[in-house]
Amino acid sequence: MILAEGMLKPGALKGKNIILTGGGTGLGRSMGEYFLELGANLVITSRKLDVLEETAQEMMTAKGGKVIPLACDVREIDQVEAMWKAANEKLGQIHVVLNNAAGNFISPTERLSINAFNTVLDIVLKGTSQVTLTAGKDWIAKKQSGTFLNIVTTYAWTGSGYVVPSAAAKAGVLALTRSLAVEWAKYGIRSNAIAPGPFPTEGAWSRLLPGDLVKKFDPAKKVPVGRVGEHQELANLAAYLVSDYSSYVNGEVMTIDGGEWLKGAGEFNNLDQIPEEMWDMMEASRGKKP
Ligand code: COA
Repeated sequence: MILAEGMLKPGALKGKNIILTGGGTGLGRSMGEYFLELGANLVITSRKLDVLEETAQEMMTAKGGKVIPLACDVREIDQVEAMWKAANEKLGQIHVVLNNAAGNFISPTERLSINAFNTVLDIVLKGTSQVTLTAGKDWIAKKQSGTFLNIVTTYAWTGSGYVVPSAAAKAGVLALTRSLAVEWAKYGIRSNAIAPGPFPTEGAWSRLLPGDLVKKFDPAKKVPVGRVGEHQELANLAAYLVSDYSSYVNGEVMTIDGGEWLKGAGEFNNLDQIPEEMWDMMEASRGKKP
């Protein structure tokens, strides 16, 4: 099936050294595997070194290339700086940073403790900012060019109830992306973002929609194209945006959601619930023959 096929030509990321935060599982891992397939070397980070080490081995066995696992809680600047230093020591110049690490609690906002709210803000906005600033300052000091790719979400601009700290933080990450795209372009640093719609992952889906909720709120039903995304579709877009083929794309947020957010936004979009017979009746009532 074409949806599961890689899109870029072999070697499209040859020689690229890429840091992928939250790279041990889920969508991060899927993107990382495709980057490796295209010739990149990777640093994958998360808080859990044991998970990362296992993933790194599996990825290298399956796809070749080099995968360096480094423990890093993006909320802790000391850990971010140590990770950046180690990544440069182990791989040499880093060309791409993909800010993918995130945290999210689905909950009525009034039920969240201040600590829970801050935990999500800290991982998503503070964490992304800390990694971005650490990498960006070093690239500028060394006169190296670089590329940032940040994973946001469509509710970064619509907002969304029940995931409020995530919405607020992702809106911040989107602003960071667009702002630095302009400010740091003069240093040869590009910044873009991807806003994915529903892509099934074991971790996020079981946490966000536990048990029967996933059946009750079947995410595919909200998507105009009638399905959820394939990981490879996201990996294709991410690989393009971190490759030199997208050199003229800067400050962009690319949505990949099958039209999901627009369906929610358009005032009359729920008229797809009206059956054909009812349209026939309405036409007949204004005198048009069926
Ligand atoms: N809903 C609401 N509040 C929650 C929660 C949940 N599901 N899970 C934890 N919290 C609260 C805790 O009660 C605590 O607040 P308190 O001190 O007032 O009681 C606060 O959030 C921090 O929790 P803690 O478990 O100490 O945080 P942590 O720093 O160890 O881990 C995460 C937080 C987000 C990193 C962890 O939950 C995690 O790994 N999540 C998976 C990653 C993820 O969410 N990815 C996003 C995919 S979209």
